[in-house]
Amino acid sequence: MRKITVHVAPQAYQVTIGAGVLNQSGDSLRAVFPEQTRVFVVTVPKVRRLWGNKLQASLVAARFKVDFLEMPDGEAHKKLATVENLAVRMSRLGADRKSVVVAFGGGVVGDTAGLLAALYMRGVDLLQVPTTLLAQVDASVGGKTGVDLKTGKNLVGVFHQPRLVITDTNVLSTLSARELRAGLYESLKCGVIGSMKLFEEIESKGAVLSPRELESIVSQSVQMKAKIVAADERENGLRRVLNFGHTIGHALETESNYRRFLHGEAVAWGMIAATRLATVTNRLDTFSARRIINAILHIGTLPKVAARGKTILGLLQADKKTRDGKIHFVLPTKIGKVEIANDVPETLIVAIVDELREIASV
Ligand SMILES: NC(=O)c1ccc[n+]([C@@H]2O[C@H](COP(=O)([O-])OP(=O)(O)OC[C@H]3O[C@@H](n4cnc5c(N)ncnc54)[C@H](O)[C@@H]3O)[C@@H](O)[C@H]2O)c1
Ligand SMILES: [Zn+2]
Repeated sequence: MRKITVHVAPQAYQVTIGAGVLNQSGDSLRAVFPEQTRVFVVTVPKVRRLWGNKLQASLVAARFKVDFLEMPDGEAHKKLATVENLAVRMSRLGADRKSVVVAFGGGVVGDTAGLLAALYMRGVDLLQVPTTLLAQVDASVGGKTGVDLKTGKNLVGVFHQPRLVITDTNVLSTLSARELRAGLYESLKCGVIGSMKLFEEIESKGAVLSPRELESIVSQSVQMKAKIVAADERENGLRRVLNFGHTIGHALETESNYRRFLHGEAVAWGMIAATRLATVTNRLDTFSARRIINAILHIGTLPKVAARGKTILGLLQADKKTRDGKIHFVLPTKIGKVEIANDVPETLIVAIVDELREIASV
């Protein structure tokens, strides 16, 4: 078991990572909240069925009164109507300002339940219990909560840091191989932006990981995110490095109406493109670029890219990150170091995205 502290104001919090820590979630929560009694666990049916009993038993043993609130599965339900529905159910069950919301699921649950906690009675305490690899290494740490609008993803939200994160790597045993790989790309991202050691662990193992290796990768990824979040809680500057692979990744998701790729898969393509851009703009040597791209492809098969470079450029130009008129990229200068670039020529962007279709057909 490992504990990582996220140093944010006004209250730092711990991420407890390990195989089986779900069984101690009640005691861990009790240590943070000696007085509280009521806990509302927001989850989806599948996660409740697979792991709900373990969480419930641990919370009840620590003398919490537990209510489960199920929401429907899927990104389509990460919306304000769901938050309202959950809030109504909480109030009917008598939730008050001392109630604790537990987000028990993947990033969709984490973001939705996080926003619920931020809004219910102007804010109640939040515990994150992430159950996908993506949520464990990314969504559960950093305090971003939010939902989608018809007009775009994550357009409504607030920062609401959890008081505790319980990250049980055992729950990943029931995750599909594809969802696991999608999370692994985000971990690899953490390696490229800040840790050669993490990069090399994923590079050598790919997606075939023992429980111990998985725990090591999750811990290092969380450590990296915690460090960056603590230095830049509200994403004013440094935190932008976490967007490595996301500039083109987001555009690929939009272009395919969020159907073709899981988020992590789109980011994987985005990282390949950014790595190529870093090389052709003389920021990164070709050997390191090869290593990054091979490590990505070694994790597993990616859905092919069908989009044209010109289409992607058009989407980038319309993207919110380009409001100051420039398209921002996070580009590696070596493995473990990145810089922000806003001077990448548009013709290069088009050419590199067009190249992705070739890579896809190898
Ligand atoms: N807040 C942040 O900082 C942040 C960061 C990254 C992503 N996100 C958000 O996270 C969301 C994506 O999260 P996700 O990839 O976890 O998707 P998800 O929450 O939709 O989960 C994917 C699927 O896995 C299932 N599942 C969850 N845990 C399982 C388990 N242990 N065993 C078997 N199945 C399980 C879910 O039921 C779901 O069907 C997006 O909405 C994205 O915007 C937020
Ligand atoms: Zn991401």
